[in-house]
Amino acid sequence: MTPERRARAEELIARYPQAQSALIPFLQFCQAQDGYVTEQAISDGAEMAGITPAKARSIASFYSLLFKEPVGKHVVQICRTLSCMLRGADELQAHARKRLGLRNGETSADGAFTYEEVECLAACDRAPCLQHNLEFHYDVTPAEFDRLLETWAARDPATTMPAE
Ligand code: FES
Repeated sequence: MTPERRARAEELIARYPQAQSALIPFLQFCQAQDGYVTEQAISDGAEMAGITPAKARSIASFYSLLFKEPVGKHVVQICRTLSCMLRGADELQAHARKRLGLRNGETSADGAFTYEEVECLAACDRAPCLQHNLEFHYDVTPAEFDRLLETWAARDPATTMPAE
């Protein structure tokens, strides 16, 4: 672990009654440095939390804003859970895949967009919904997706991702 990460880990651990509680903010810190959660970050996080790398990886895998590989500048995540599916998420997903030219989990060759279909985004009453970096969009139709896409493509830099 680098001295900077060790200092950050110690600072975060001091905020919580258990070191393991600092794992997610620590991984967010690492992601802000590296662009995604590297195996080194998992290893460092496990060391900090006093758990195995496998357990740290398992915990991290639950969070859709912790990326396991490099992502694009714009990360578009569309909900695939029940309320959204009942209100047209499958049509929206098919439209988004076609417009972006990406399958679920892929990043464009130019590094501009990553597309993901994710579990419930906790906005079920405004389904179907999507998240673009840290922004939520509700009641999204294919036509609204096209409008959003124009907005995102013109935006540089994109909405920042969480640092911690
Ligand atoms: S089911 Fe889509 S936000 Fe909950």
